[in-house]
Amino acid sequence: MNTPKYKRVMLKLSGEALAGKTGYGFDFEVVKRIASEIKELVEMGVQVGAVVGGGNIWRGRNGIGMDRTTADYMGMLATCINAMALQNILENMGVVTRVQTAIEMREIAEPFIRRKAIRHLEKGRVVIFAGGTGNPYFSTDTAAALRAAEICAEVILLAKKVDGVYDSDPNLNPNAKKFEKLTFQEVLEKNLKVMDSTATSLCKDNNIPIIVFGLDTPGNIKKAIFGEPVGTIVSN
Ligand code: GTP
Repeated sequence: MNTPKYKRVMLKLSGEALAGKTGYGFDFEVVKRIASEIKELVEMGVQVGAVVGGGNIWRGRNGIGMDRTTADYMGMLATCINAMALQNILENMGVVTRVQTAIEMREIAEPFIRRKAIRHLEKGRVVIFAGGTGNPYFSTDTAAALRAAEICAEVILLAKKVDGVYDSDPNLNPNAKKFEKLTFQEVLEKNLKVMDSTATSLCKDNNIPIIVFGLDTPGNIKKAIFGEPVGTIVSN
């Protein structure tokens, strides 16, 4: 366990992950633990891009008759709040970060500029990509896949509440079977809920593997970076 397997990674954190057990808002102890794991990676020389979801603040339009685009834009704003929280906690730990937003809000953060993002990464700064893709009808998983392709990340680390990909929902089915390895084709054909199909196709077409793992177990991010078996790996 000496040299990291990956030099540049995209870490996708679900918004719910930041909420801890409460399911809403922030559990700052959880956010601090995630931040300290990110710090470890940076100290090992790994370049880290991060995309955060927004589900701990805004869960979308379900059941309230709101139109899709408005609900999606609200979700994008939620990801910006999360990005600022993560930035603040990382910087309090001495990790240099930059937030770049897909929708311009220059008073708050710099706008997404691909070449600038890459320079930040080269300088060892964690770049948090906020605001999804900037478009409705796309998930933050798709934003992670898109930004990963743009910054030439070698892998997407998909940190979830569940510790991998199962053949059925492990919360509902105690006999659900966890996959160690899957191909993107299998994920699409079996309609497995890893990422949505847009994000999955983007990773498939651009040959970016995804490691799906549970965030609740401390040390998983580091294990994934060193190529140790953790969760489920999805590749071509
Ligand atoms: P280099 O000097 O190129 O290595 O990068 P840098 O990010 O340190 O330089 P820059 O002068 O662009 O940024 C200095 C600080 O201002 C950083 O914290 C940036 O995140 C922030 N910053 C840069 N552009 C913007 C912007 O448009 N809006 C906001 N709010 N902050 C910005």
